[in-house]
Amino acid sequence: MATKTLEEIAQTLITDQKGILAADQPSVHLTNRLEVLNTTAQDDTYRKWCELLFTTPELSTHVSGVIMHPSAVDLSTDDGNSLVDVLIDNGMIPGISPSTGLIPLAGAPGEVIAGGLDNLRERFQRYAAMGIGFSKWRAAIRIGDTIPTSYCINANAYILAQFAALSQEAGIVPIVEPEVELIGTHTIERCFEATEWMLKRTFEALYEHRVNLEATLLKANMVVSGADCPTQASIETVADMTVRVLRRAAPSAIPGVVFLSGGQTDLNATAHLNAMNANYSNPWKLTFSYARALQRAPLNAWRNNPHKVLDGQAALKHRANMNALASVGRWSPSLEQ
Ligand code: 13P
Repeated sequence: MATKTLEEIAQTLITDQKGILAADQPSVHLTNRLEVLNTTAQDDTYRKWCELLFTTPELSTHVSGVIMHPSAVDLSTDDGNSLVDVLIDNGMIPGISPSTGLIPLAGAPGEVIAGGLDNLRERFQRYAAMGIGFSKWRAAIRIGDTIPTSYCINANAYILAQFAALSQEAGIVPIVEPEVELIGTHTIERCFEATEWMLKRTFEALYEHRVNLEATLLKANMVVSGADCPTQASIETVADMTVRVLRRAAPSAIPGVVFLSGGQTDLNATAHLNAMNANYSNPWKLTFSYARALQRAPLNAWRNNPHKVLDGQAALKHRANMNALASVGRWSPSLEQ
């Protein structure tokens, strides 16, 4: 089969009624979530969880690609097949999240930046040779009384653009994720302002770094009220303000926006996506790239119990199906039954 161009990979990722499964959390996150469910993880639990997710029957009906943590690309299934090959064989594009995580931004109390640009060119070459087709880099912007600062916004935008340029150089489609976080007491209006600011700076930096926008996807936060804000915006307001901020700041040259769920409930993440697709005509595809809002239900069903693998897979399939419907504005709460 002929190798796909970067633009073709980007288009495949946003195929109609499909989205992305973000499974790039490090193993310690899985351990912590299992502890909350009163279950303990063993050495092999992370590998088994990835295998459960990636071998879910017919997941590719609703999932175009899966983002993996670097520690997962060298893991194999019980049968000895590499997880990367399992995704390809099951009709999905394997992706990678090569950042080494968030670290404090020097001189900027309370603000963070993602590390991991060292040797990224060489790591990307290895990932490309394995058949990895896309990558994702997350910047985390926090809202507080005196933050975000322009220093933090600019530093994060610059790193996102360096990552994207290196990814395209290696023949891997970049997904840039300039996330304005949900944590805090801030209003939805403050989230809107910070999101507009960060998106505009990110696209300026992408331009300066000569990144091909037609071969880039944006992983955006939705514009929402802070998790601890006493007034929570309605589904319609979130949809309206999110579409508005994207129209102001996201060029129509990018093929798609794939949202993060950011700590929203499973149903809110689906309902917001649905409202944006049902009620607005947009120049980009709007679909999902959820981690928690896709993995919470299957993890609850599985709980590291080998007899519950099929229940976990059924729960993942259901959430992927619901979000696929939301990506074309055809979801309704009654379909959840
Ligand atoms: P959430 O959907 O849990 O916010 O995670 C998104 C993400 O970026 C993980 O790759």
